[in-house]
Amino acid sequence: MKIGILGSGNVGGTLGQAWAKQGHEVCLGARDPQSPDLQARLSDAGGNAKAGSLQNAVDFGEVIVLTLPWGAVEETLGMLSHLEGKILLDCTNPNFSADADQHHPVSGGERVATWVPQTKVVKIFNTTGWENMANPQYGSQSLTMFYAGDDADAKAIAAQLATDIGFEPVDAGSLTNSGLLESLAQLWGKLAYGQKLGRNIAFKLLQR
Ligand SMILES: NC(=O)c1ccc[n+]([C@@H]2O[C@H](COP(=O)([O-])OP(=O)(O)OC[C@H]3O[C@@H](n4cnc5c(N)ncnc54)[C@H](OP(=O)(O)O)[C@@H]3O)[C@@H](O)[C@H]2O)c1
Repeated sequence: MKIGILGSGNVGGTLGQAWAKQGHEVCLGARDPQSPDLQARLSDAGGNAKAGSLQNAVDFGEVIVLTLPWGAVEETLGMLSHLEGKILLDCTNPNFSADADQHHPVSGGERVATWVPQTKVVKIFNTTGWENMANPQYGSQSLTMFYAGDDADAKAIAAQLATDIGFEPVDAGSLTNSGLLESLAQLWGKLAYGQKLGRNIAFKLLQR
């Protein structure tokens, strides 16, 4: 699958490397595609990954992966063209330390969908740290990756992309449940930092 990633930092770079190593074609979209950090990521990802502008990534991808800081999301999406009909995987989390987001009545995932209504948004890859995206195995257990969205085909592709890099995907329902996933991300951060458990922690859904 051709995957265009908006952002090439911890999350975008890690997911891009992981998918490229699994045989997907990846374009990491960046403000500076020639930056040394990005070039180092590309050499580690093997031959299936390249870098380009943010618009290059949109034009390249059948699936677009949103991995920008929350504060840059609305403006950046507004500057991009040709998003119509694409699947958009929203990996972002609102900035919960800002009052405006802490008390915002609408989830980040739903706001993203209103900013790019012509895309099929799936909230995914926001509930765990990037280190767990690089390695979602804890012993014999694969981490759970919750996802939420309204388009069944887009969700199936999102789930497959999670499986491809070692997660166990779990359908969390419609995009209106994005806020639950964003709260889970907040909890992960509180446990990692507030409770000092560190970043090597992750959520696993058990079922019987
Ligand atoms: N870190 C995690 O473990 C984690 C886990 C789950 C979800 N998330 C969410 O994922 C998103 C990205 O987090 P991250 O840790 O990957 O951040 P990061 O390492 O700082 O990477 C952010 C990327 O966005 C680019 N960027 C920053 N401002 C931009 C702008 N105004 N316009 C265009 N590109 C811009 C940066 O490019 P430059 O290199 O040019 O600055 C960089 O490639 C956030 O929404 C975060 O909440 C993070």
